[in-house]
Amino acid sequence: MANHDTLQLATEYPAHDELQDTKETIAFLKTKMEEAYKPNNLRRDAHPKHHGVVRAEFIVEENLAEDLQVGVFKQGLSRPNRSFPAWIRFSNASNRVHHDREKDMIGFAIKLMGVEGDKILNIDQDSYFNDELTNDSSFSEEKFTQDFLFMSHPVFLVARIKDFKKLVTAAFGDNSILKFFFNPFDNHLRTLWIILTMNKYHTSPLDNRYWSNSPYLFGSSEKGKRRAVKYALLPTSKTRSKMPKNKTENYLKDAMKNHLAQDEASFDFMIQFQTDANKMPIEDTRIDWSEVDSPLIKVATIKIPKQIFDSPEQMAFAENSYFAAWHSLPEHRPLGSINRARRFAYDQLSKFRLKRNKFPRIEPDGSEEF
Ligand code: HEM
Repeated sequence: MANHDTLQLATEYPAHDELQDTKETIAFLKTKMEEAYKPNNLRRDAHPKHHGVVRAEFIVEENLAEDLQVGVFKQGLSRPNRSFPAWIRFSNASNRVHHDREKDMIGFAIKLMGVEGDKILNIDQDSYFNDELTNDSSFSEEKFTQDFLFMSHPVFLVARIKDFKKLVTAAFGDNSILKFFFNPFDNHLRTLWIILTMNKYHTSPLDNRYWSNSPYLFGSSEKGKRRAVKYALLPTSKTRSKMPKNKTENYLKDAMKNHLAQDEASFDFMIQFQTDANKMPIEDTRIDWSEVDSPLIKVATIKIPKQIFDSPEQMAFAENSYFAAWHSLPEHRPLGSINRARRFAYDQLSKFRLKRNKFPRIEPDGSEEF
């Protein structure tokens, strides 16, 4: 790690043993998935409970300033009307499928379709994990989709993958979570605070604000031209749900269902530039970037039209889908320790899950009918 005085904007500082921590984390999570689920019915290790996958439209702002016309926001890249068809999977973040009376965070994963151009994983083949799953050609990368992932809390639990590995092994392995938080030589009090505040009751997944938590490149990767952003989604629907008096098992899905039966829903897609390399770090996902120092800028609108989305076929599509931050154009490359680990974690663990369930990893193209 570079020290604070030398941090540069939009620059990564990988730890020397990061890949080893990533491998150990993935191996641990695979075992955890095998223990939690039947062999041919694996669910996601994180976000296994979904509230449905909904059809949406991603509309890039008209007349964006030249310097904002990057990646999917480039005018002319998108289809007519600056618009991409999309699927959005809403989920609970917990690693268990639980009753909605338990507080949780909500995950928002959007996949844009018809996005032309090679994606990072097509160009930059994974040479680090030279194993059976990585080399399985039945999971070849698809070229026409772009994913963005969000959570309903501004920050992630931990700074780096090393801390994530320690957290999951302490919580689900050797039962040493108190030591993890309070170790006088390596305490994780900020993580404890985040865990105590991140889970909430929600009126509906359609009513929340969402944050990317982690940073992304915005445009050129050339030194001197690099810029980094975080993303946020602001809910803008006219219709809002009320908190039910009696929280039923799947009230979050029901709230979405009632909303989308009557009215469309919408979000503004915002970017926030990193303007200070110390106060807005790339390598520490526990730090919220100040919107006073760097205000959000609107670059697109997400429209979710009125629809029925909970047929058994469409719910199965939500289950067997795959969303990953690295499924991306190079202009939106994920940055920072947690993101670098996610490159391998999502690829390996989604292949592991789908292979066990005997499902191919198929990218949708928007023509799906249920
Ligand atoms: C910035 C931090 C993170 C954010 C915002 C985030 C967000 C999400 C979201 C929204 C999903 C649901 C995707 C879907 O609907 O299919 C997801 C799934 C998942 N996340 Fe994360 N996550 C983060 C960090 C991590 C880390 C550090 C790991 C492990 C190293 C991890 C492991 C997973 C796994 C295994 C899945 C399920 C993948 C699959 O089987 O398809 N996440 N994450």
